Amino acid sequence: MNFHFPSLHGLTAAVLLGLAATAHAGDTTPAAQLQRWNAEAGAPGVAARGQVFFQSRHGGEWSCASCHGALPTAQGQHANTSKAIAALAPAFNARSLTDAAKADKWFRRNCKDVLARECTAIEKADVLAFLLELK
Ligand code: HEC
Repeated sequence: MNFHFPSLHGLTAAVLLGLAATAHAGDTTPAAQLQRWNAEAGAPGVAARGQVFFQSRHGGEWSCASCHGALPTAQGQHANTSKAIAALAPAFNARSLTDAAKADKWFRRNCKDVLARECTAIEKADVLAFLLELK
């Protein structure tokens, strides 16, 4: 009888984790994240500059567009693993850029992959200005 408890426990934990993940998924908005990077940079992001940044290879093998598409309004595809990537532009994906920790994590990781360094605040503001302008 007793050994039924662990599985029940596991189920409860899974449900709770699911709830936590759901609650966490919407802690910010794309516009609020743009504001955050604008404030940190001390200047507003510029969409046209963000587009050039997004579509350029910065001396390496990949651009942001290599995985997200030149205009990230549709599903992208990972340049290495071919895995599908949900559209990055918020107008085409309601979940995009709604979780500050997730955006920070991927900015860090992707900038290192593309630029071999982290992106600066103004680079992130430019990219977000570009992404928010796609309708
Ligand atoms: C090698 C493939 C690859 C490259 C190159 C790449 N990304 Fe990504 N990016 C991903 C994947 C995979 C995710 C996670 C998608 C998901 O979980 O929905 C992601 C997620 C993101 C997110 C988080 C979106 C959110 O909802 O918060 C941002 C921001 C982002 N990428 C920006 C960039 C920028 C800027 C560049 C160029 C400097 C770039 N990416 C280059 C694969 C890539």
